[in-house]
Amino acid sequence: MMRRFFAPLLAVGLLAGVAAHAEDTLSPLRFQSAGTFGSIDLAAAQRGFAVYQGVCASCHGMDALHYRDLQALGLTPAQVAGIAASVKLSDGSAATPDSRFKEPAAMSMSGAVPPDLSSIVAQRAGGTDYIYRFLTGFGPAPAGVTLLPGSNYNAAFPGGQVFMPAVLHDDAVTYADGTKATTAQEAADVAEFLTWSADPNLSARHAVGLRAVIFFVFLAIVAMLTKRRIWRQEG
Ligand code: HEC
Repeated sequence: MMRRFFAPLLAVGLLAGVAAHAEDTLSPLRFQSAGTFGSIDLAAAQRGFAVYQGVCASCHGMDALHYRDLQALGLTPAQVAGIAASVKLSDGSAATPDSRFKEPAAMSMSGAVPPDLSSIVAQRAGGTDYIYRFLTGFGPAPAGVTLLPGSNYNAAFPGGQVFMPAVLHDDAVTYADGTKATTAQEAADVAEFLTWSADPNLSARHAVGLRAVIFFVFLAIVAMLTKRRIWRQEG
């Protein structure tokens, strides 16, 4: 009896899971990299690099990355060479694919220093979602909140006051793949890019996990059938 209900339920559950994956990533916000079996959305991460390069790199470094690492996002060696060649290092020479990401000039905003973003997703509670909420959390301070000089209101930042200005706005970058660059899209894409940089092996690790789960389900079925066979009542 139980089993007759269980099989269709399982099928519906699996289908719902697949359908949820195919959903638009912004409404409701759902990162492809999220969850136990998530994988990096390479197209989003490529757009996210464009946001980092065009908007964030003037203040934030990513010292764990070399330009050649971008090939892991699906960029060709020629595209990577082109990106590197367009970066002028502090000694005036052009970067190469083997150069580390260019470090911005040291700066502070009212004493607050922009942190390196290589592993920021791993360093903040809430990870990818937090980065998205932080980047879209700027706005006018609510009544009764007095901002410190030089600080900006950000609903997602602990304490609500941050020394980073709101830097994203619609069309802050132009996406090569034609995606419309809204503030929310830019925030989601750069959050996915930073998720990859904090954990470049996420996709591979999750794929191994999924295969392990399938293997153990298979093993459980074999064990169950074997047990039945061994303990089958004779006669
Ligand atoms: C004009 C310089 C500037 C730019 C451009 C800038 N930031 Fe920042 N950012 C800062 C500063 C300064 C801080 C430190 C703020 C503080 O501690 O109050 C910061 C902090 C952060 C933090 C840490 C928040 C936390 O929880 O501690 C994140 C994440 C971040 N920035 C992401 C980005 C991203 C992504 C971009 C590009 C879309 C970007 N920033 C562009 C100056 C900048």
